Amino acid sequence: MNRRDLLKSAAGATLALKTGGLAAQGSGLIEKPIPGTDETLPAIGIGTNRYSVGDDQENLQLLQTLRTFSQLGGTVIDTAPMYRSSETILGRLIDELEIRDRIFLATKSDRDRKDGGPTRVDNSFQQLRTEVVDLMQVHNLRGLDMLPTLREMQSIGQVRYLGITTSRTAQFPDFIRVMRNEKLDFIQVNYALNDREAAGTILPLAQDLGLAVLVNVPLGRGRLFRAVQGQQLPGWAADFGARSWAQFFLKYVISHPAVTCAIPGMRRISHVEDNLGAATGALPTPAQRARQEAWFDSL
Ligand SMILES: NC(=O)c1ccc[n+]([C@@H]2O[C@H](COP(=O)([O-])OP(=O)(O)OC[C@H]3O[C@@H](n4cnc5c(N)ncnc54)[C@H](OP(=O)(O)O)[C@@H]3O)[C@@H](O)[C@H]2O)c1
Repeated sequence: MNRRDLLKSAAGATLALKTGGLAAQGSGLIEKPIPGTDETLPAIGIGTNRYSVGDDQENLQLLQTLRTFSQLGGTVIDTAPMYRSSETILGRLIDELEIRDRIFLATKSDRDRKDGGPTRVDNSFQQLRTEVVDLMQVHNLRGLDMLPTLREMQSIGQVRYLGITTSRTAQFPDFIRVMRNEKLDFIQVNYALNDREAAGTILPLAQDLGLAVLVNVPLGRGRLFRAVQGQQLPGWAADFGARSWAQFFLKYVISHPAVTCAIPGMRRISHVEDNLGAATGALPTPAQRARQEAWFDSL
């Protein structure tokens, strides 16, 4: 039985319900399908590379941010062992908020076997306090020799989906080779209004191969906000329901037909409220997307 069949089987359905993969349906947010499955994900998730264990007040802020994210229907949470203590704080907060059954938890594998890859992956499960990781991704193609082990974990249901990530355009040629040569379910790639290279190569290939796509750094690590500092949101942004700069930028990303979910980094509640709004209402049409690009390039 292949992985897609597994998900459709009774065991797979039970697992999906247990881990919350299907729970997002009906949240009111725009949802996108995971190709080849009956499962959908809200089009905006959360990136946590700036999450870490802090003092009581900092931990409380992250708890409140994550609570708001979940209450507004967000489910996709992306982390990695490389993000300092992000997995540790997430494990604690998810437990405290009792939301494990409602979220789609994505983390990463980032070591070769000989450098302790398997131990590193085991540690992620421990830190995240979970028996099942919804998406395990090889981080920046580092430790690709872990793929057979991760597939084994997928076959017994410890990992539901398998993927690879990059956030560097210079890595795209290697990334494309792996996309073509390995059997994957997801990719994660950098794509934003100021960083559109993926749309020419990786995103169409993902569509051809039937892969789900997470988009990292969709706000250009905050650079997009600096680029429009002092500018008014153009009046025509209202035509596709963008009420803020963040929504203008994120609606651009999630309106690409290959994109399943964008994962902006968010430590603040106000950013969660703003960004999840991008996954409501209309999305830009191809003509409106072209207008966004031309407008941004003329800045
Ligand atoms: N190779 C890889 O696998 C890879 C590489 C890079 C990133 N990633 C993933 O992608 C995620 C996103 O990347 P990123 O966080 O570096 O970049 P980003 O999402 O492009 O930008 C995040 C920055 O924008 C700010 N922001 C968010 N929403 C905002 C809003 N509505 N208004 C104003 N500012 C706003 C955030 O502030 P606050 O934090 O204060 O809310 C943060 O400073 C990461 O967290 C990580 O999960 C993966």
